[in-house]
Amino acid sequence: MPRKTILERIRSRLSWAFANHCRPRLLRAASRSAGLSRLYYLLFSSAFRQEQHAVVSGMAEYFRNISSSASSNYLLRRNIHRLEKGMIMRPRRDIYALSYIRETVDAFCRACSGGETEELLWAASVLGAYFDCAKPHPLLDDLKTRFHSVQPKMPDACTPSKMPSASAQVSYADLLSLMRSRKSVRWFKQLPVPRDILDQAVAAAALAPSSCNRQPFEFRLIDDPVLVRKVAASPMGTEGFSENIPVIAVVIGHLQAFFSERDRHLIYIDSSLAAMSFILALEALGVSTCCINWPDMAERKENLGAILRLKPCERPVMLIAAGYRDESGLVAWSQRKPVEELRAYNLP
Ligand SMILES: Cc1cc2nc3c(=O)[nH]c(=O)nc-3n(C[C@H](O)[C@H](O)[C@H](O)COP(=O)(O)O)c2cc1C
Repeated sequence: MPRKTILERIRSRLSWAFANHCRPRLLRAASRSAGLSRLYYLLFSSAFRQEQHAVVSGMAEYFRNISSSASSNYLLRRNIHRLEKGMIMRPRRDIYALSYIRETVDAFCRACSGGETEELLWAASVLGAYFDCAKPHPLLDDLKTRFHSVQPKMPDACTPSKMPSASAQVSYADLLSLMRSRKSVRWFKQLPVPRDILDQAVAAAALAPSSCNRQPFEFRLIDDPVLVRKVAASPMGTEGFSENIPVIAVVIGHLQAFFSERDRHLIYIDSSLAAMSFILALEALGVSTCCINWPDMAERKENLGAILRLKPCERPVMLIAAGYRDESGLVAWSQRKPVEELRAYNLP
């Protein structure tokens, strides 16, 4: 157990003393201004301490990664995406991306020394198409020469292409039926889930949209029974059914994808979009799931972090229990809010 600092000791005494009697009044006072809420978190709560550490570690890791020769880096992913967006603008500008093309080519050339990956082939083809179309410009001419000196293989297929037809193969009724058949299942048959089924679900999750196509997440799939028990017991919401879960996926957000605090919430958004695709794909493949909340509590993160060897900037977003449903178990009704309550058009 790490020793508590003096401030932490004062804080825990105060929060213990205030917890029952004064908390509602204290919260009302703290909510009056941003300054008072900062004071509240300085004196009475350390709830954000670990997140702050994670965000700072993530940004430090981001800058370490982009200046290394690692063949995958988030600066390259984001900037290649920005170039693609420039290419599909209507009308396309003759010259664009001047503010970030140098860092992109630098990152690309460094990454090329780390070996060929699909990410690099994509980057190569987009950069190639960008330079092919760019009008002459002193900065671009120089960078184009540098880019070509690396001479990567350039598959044409990775550049912006014609829009796919809008007619989806799946009807709304079919989609709704898949969504209706998905329920939070907590009782499973004691059967393993084949890994190729899990991989197919991850392949579906990879198609989810993500901010600047960074995909700042990872699915840690646990199917070893001993490890599943350990991991399944680590959040709070599995009490009573953790022992019968055959597979558990831990969705991890990568804060090392971001250079600024302003983007810290994207790990939750991007991971959740991918998680839903993962869940629906499993459902379509006959595997049931139950989302499990990950409580943001320092001791629990330390425990799970030690089991999964997570870096401080890698944040558990949620867990997903998976397996073949045991039809003799029950599922909750879970009433849904009506459409009228969930949406508002043009509300001023
Ligand atoms: C982010 C998230 C966290 C959840 N956490 C838990 C949990 O910790 N334990 C649990 O039994 N169910 C958990 N659930 C399942 C919800 O209770 C369930 O999705 C909701 O009641 C709707 O029911 P349905 O999924 O069967 O349609 C969670 C769901 C989500 C989306």
